[in-house]
Amino acid sequence: MADTTRSLYDTVADTYACVLPDLRAEAASDLELIYRFGRMVPAGESPVLDAGCGTGRVLPYLASLGLAPLAGIDLSPAMVAHARRHAPDARIAVAPLTALPFPDAGVRGILCWYAIIHSTHAEVAVIAEEAARVLVQGAPLLLAFQAGTGDHFVPRAYGHDVSLHAVLHEPDDIAAALTSAGFQIVATDRRDPLSVEKHGQGFVLAVRAKATEA
Ligand SMILES: C[S@@+](CC[C@H](N)C(=O)[O-])C[C@H]1O[C@@H](n2cnc3c(N)ncnc32)[C@H](O)[C@@H]1O
Repeated sequence: MADTTRSLYDTVADTYACVLPDLRAEAASDLELIYRFGRMVPAGESPVLDAGCGTGRVLPYLASLGLAPLAGIDLSPAMVAHARRHAPDARIAVAPLTALPFPDAGVRGILCWYAIIHSTHAEVAVIAEEAARVLVQGAPLLLAFQAGTGDHFVPRAYGHDVSLHAVLHEPDDIAAALTSAGFQIVATDRRDPLSVEKHGQGFVLAVRAKATEA
């Protein structure tokens, strides 16, 4: 799946950057949730990570919330090239969600905005474990994804001759995976699709439990 996902986003990266240059397509409630996440990030010098940062369109908003230093990772080198232009002060690397290039407890917060949409539930469990490994105790993790069950297939993604296969997730299933990995759930949410969206959207906000709370 990772090779297919990397190839997909390498193909569509330039178009993605044009179609979704920033967060103007997001619902106001989505931005409020990211703001809430930002308020939960503990003070410190380690980075806040945009995991699956894509073209980096969320990074300027995270910077505006005072969350620097920022970091990003993504599977797709073409998406990462955009992200480096978008957020020149952030440390951005090509890496998978399942093997984050950070030491244990080396990250103060993780935003994972529509990056698990190509991952199966079993893969999400691994991603949750990896997020728990790199997060400081008490630090927040916010995930956004398309909500539901089953798959979503687009034969021509972003107008290119390449198909997109996405996996829908139920917020309660994501919350269960996070709980198993040592997170405490702060909020789960689901909203109706905006006019340009095909599916409802799911969100889970959690914190890395402190050792005595796990
Ligand atoms: C729909 S885009 C979202 C990008 C960005 N977060 C945004 O909101 O614009 C999904 C991104 O997640 C990345 N991605 C998907 N699965 C990944 C994985 N297992 N590891 C790292 N990146 C992944 C893709 O390469 C792609 O850039």
